[in-house]
Amino acid sequence: MSEVMAPERADFTIEQQWSAYSAEEHAIWRTLFHRQEEILRERACPEFLAGLAGLGVAADGIPDFRRLNSLLGAATGWTIVAVPGLVPDAVFFAHLANRRFPSTCFIRRADQLDYLQEPDIFHDIYGHVPMLMNPIFADYMQAYGKGGLKALGLDSLHRLARLYWYTVEFGLVRSPAGIRIYGSGIVSSKGESIYCLESPVPNRIGFDLLRIMRTEYRIDDFQASYFVIDDFAQLFAATQPDFTPYYEQLRVTSDLAPETILPGDVVLHRGTKDRQDR
Ligand code: PHE
Ligand code: CO
Repeated sequence: MSEVMAPERADFTIEQQWSAYSAEEHAIWRTLFHRQEEILRERACPEFLAGLAGLGVAADGIPDFRRLNSLLGAATGWTIVAVPGLVPDAVFFAHLANRRFPSTCFIRRADQLDYLQEPDIFHDIYGHVPMLMNPIFADYMQAYGKGGLKALGLDSLHRLARLYWYTVEFGLVRSPAGIRIYGSGIVSSKGESIYCLESPVPNRIGFDLLRIMRTEYRIDDFQASYFVIDDFAQLFAATQPDFTPYYEQLRVTSDLAPETILPGDVVLHRGTKDRQDR
């Protein structure tokens, strides 16, 4: 007998079993959806809002991956695959490298609307899939998957994990109307959607690839620093080079605590040190 259950399929995918969701589970999705609709109208970036609009079926209730996939596939060639939860790094990266996004299937309970530490289907689908409707971001995610497989062999996975965290999960982007959200971990959280833009507490710093790869992150609280890209073309261009020499360079640098501000940072907002007053 093994301690870890072996997956039925080598790529860890399962069936979503959409018809098994209860009316209550669909209602939780709709509550979360409508709450975020209100909050994100003026806070999410235009690319996220356009992607969400393009996935119109997502408003009805927990989406059936088969229906989402026909829209997503037509837009950028990505496919959502169902997984039971976290999958091994190499499996996750291999999915991304093949334009497959692994999503959980379960939805949080009604008493967990505001906070959940592990990803659920609302985070994975509502948070991530709208950005996968954007051609540049879709290519970025695939490149990330390929880079992940490479980083595994170069003992530098933590570097790439930080990049994912500060872009895909918690990224902000400039827009003519002001700073906007594109990070999935933010858009699927009511509290952080407001906090990341409006609270004086966290830093908001211009995107800097190598600097981000030195920066530790928090998984159990709102972020202490957010990194702001100019646009998705900048993010894509900055991550195109082979990272192998970057990983070498980074070996002689120190890691940075999440709240650190460096002399070379482009500081858009210097956070107040007192994290009590959020
Ligand atoms: N260019 C990176 C590498 O050589 C791959 C990558 C692309 C990583 C996009 C992250 C995002 O490893
Ligand atoms: Co996520």
